[in-house]
Amino acid sequence: MDVRKAVIPAAGYGTRMLPITKAQPKEMVPVVHKPVIQYVVEEAYYSGIKEILIITGKHKRAIEDHFDRSNLPKKDKHIEKLDRILNEVNIYFVRQREQKGLGDAVKYAEAFVDDEPFALLLGDTITIPPCTKEIIKVYERYRTSIIAVEEVPVEKVCLYGIIACKPVENSIYLVEDLVEKPSVDEAPSNLAILGRYILTPEIFDCLKNTKPGKSGEIQLTDAMRILSKKEYMYAYLFKGKRFDIGNKADWLKANIELALNDKELGEEIRTFLKLLGA
Ligand code: UTP
Repeated sequence: MDVRKAVIPAAGYGTRMLPITKAQPKEMVPVVHKPVIQYVVEEAYYSGIKEILIITGKHKRAIEDHFDRSNLPKKDKHIEKLDRILNEVNIYFVRQREQKGLGDAVKYAEAFVDDEPFALLLGDTITIPPCTKEIIKVYERYRTSIIAVEEVPVEKVCLYGIIACKPVENSIYLVEDLVEKPSVDEAPSNLAILGRYILTPEIFDCLKNTKPGKSGEIQLTDAMRILSKKEYMYAYLFKGKRFDIGNKADWLKANIELALNDKELGEEIRTFLKLLGA
């Protein structure tokens, strides 16, 4: 079966972005022209997906408002582009009742996903070019769960979910195990899960058998570990850029890099950075 549906968890606290996230969702934090979550919805759309579920929660209502059709009296090209996409996709919302971790958030997608493979895109992460499009292609060859990974410096493995794996072919690995935020000594590789996945619906049974892990939250990585023992799971080494908008340094870097590449703003920002001597 083809990948027709996408799930975007966007219910987390965003404590690393406080106080920006005190009264607004971190997924609504702006990156150049638009909020992060719009990049994520557009990535699903440009990957060929038309059915999208966003998992929201307390203090996240601005996300729903953002994806309403606009009725602005004046034309704006950014809004017109978004409206064209909104004409073609169906966006649904469900609320995670308590912020009990990413794994718990994904559980709320079971009825929407039904019995199909689906794309999972973290609502606070931007990938350029769209990583989902690339992992759908890998899924079409392997027909099982695919995780996108990137190489990270060894001293940073403790910040990510890390995989143990065996190379299969260029950029593709067979996943043998997964560990959430290992110490440098425990880490089986420096390949880090980056927030884009294709998952088979078997993940929901695995999530039901997943106990709260580190920090009392239900970790998606722990459920994927169970899944990797039940069926083949592959990792795809993404060579593009990924920005984690959940931490301030990456968020600022994303704004600078994407603004420099922007047709409207690039030149002015480049001149400004030169003046700063950066
Ligand atoms: P993070 O691991 O960044 O957690 O979530 P967080 O709670 O949002 O942020 P911090 O650690 O407090 O700063 C990764 C993704 O999982 C979603 C988040 O919205 C984000 O897209 N998530 C996380 C949920 O949907 N529900 C949760 O309970 C936790």
